[in-house]
Amino acid sequence: MEGDGNCSNNLFTSATTLTKMRVPHVPQHYVLPPSQRPNPTLDITTTLPIIDLSSLNHASQRSLTLDKIQMASKGFGFFQVVDHGIPLSIMNDALDAAKEFFNLSLEEKMPLLSDNVHDPVRYGTSLNHAKDKVHFWRDFIKHYSHPISEWIHLWPSNPPSYKDKMGNYAKAVQVLQKQLVEAILETLGLNLGNLQEELEEGNQLMTTNFYPACPEPDLTLGMPPHSDYGTLTILLQNGPGLQLQDKKKNWLSVPFVEGALIVQLGDQIEVMSNGQYKSVVHQVTLSAENERLSIASLHSLPLNKKIGPAPELVDEQHPVSYKEFSFRDFLDFISSNNIADGRFIDSIRKTA
Ligand code: OGA
Ligand code: NI
Repeated sequence: MEGDGNCSNNLFTSATTLTKMRVPHVPQHYVLPPSQRPNPTLDITTTLPIIDLSSLNHASQRSLTLDKIQMASKGFGFFQVVDHGIPLSIMNDALDAAKEFFNLSLEEKMPLLSDNVHDPVRYGTSLNHAKDKVHFWRDFIKHYSHPISEWIHLWPSNPPSYKDKMGNYAKAVQVLQKQLVEAILETLGLNLGNLQEELEEGNQLMTTNFYPACPEPDLTLGMPPHSDYGTLTILLQNGPGLQLQDKKKNWLSVPFVEGALIVQLGDQIEVMSNGQYKSVVHQVTLSAENERLSIASLHSLPLNKKIGPAPELVDEQHPVSYKEFSFRDFLDFISSNNIADGRFIDSIRKTA
């Protein structure tokens, strides 16, 4: 049976394996302390922003769209986008390839198993299966994706269509993220200047998450509360489950909108903006009936590029509020800390 015996690491059990075994209860090491379990979502009348991007490239309407992006970035660090230019067929193909990958036998996925956060391609479960004390009900495959020619040979070769389908989506989302980061920086009044080149050379980590149906979704989570490290994350999902935390610390469920993509501001934007925009804290809840797939494209400036608050946004009233950090610093942080225990950004916040 999957997860037992004859595989190279017999301590590894994926969430998929547990669901296939039809375990009636989640194993004890998935059970969260009561205070960290999913709260029945508070019934809040806020509607989360959905922004039509079709007019971003029309000079006369651009400023209206920028206003919407600014409001959503200030209010939530989150918005969904429609009319974003990525065809539904490219998004569905990527989801299909991801589904086929997770449906492979464990033996076929094991060669990609890695608990080293510095590896460019890795398959795993929870956050880090080798270290997590409490596990999360998620399996994942992550890989670097930009520039694609540098990484694609390392991606899964099974299913055979994976590289093509995921590659098409990765390239399309890379174009979209650049437009969005530029728009967001513009709403902060920042001049792109030599950032332009660094955005071009930035890092793209495609993280595909699979959340199998879970026998006890009230006791555990698919992912714990966290914010993403980069500039922004663009997320494609095939159903509901994502929740975000608003400024009052309520959890808001993100509605599933067919064809839409989710945009989440990350820690690099929070730091660059010197705290004017906040990275969005989010978590993933589970369902007893439905599995869920998401493809999160995490974008950041190049691995070793140190990001600090933009000098234009610093003055006497707004002193520098964060230390500089690079994506590599974040990776070093998570290789010795667990993001379920504390946020990275709190480690670089300057206290007055
Ligand atoms: C992530 C993440 C959310 C989701 O991969 O960082 O937050 O809905 N994913 O899968
Ligand atoms: Ni995330």
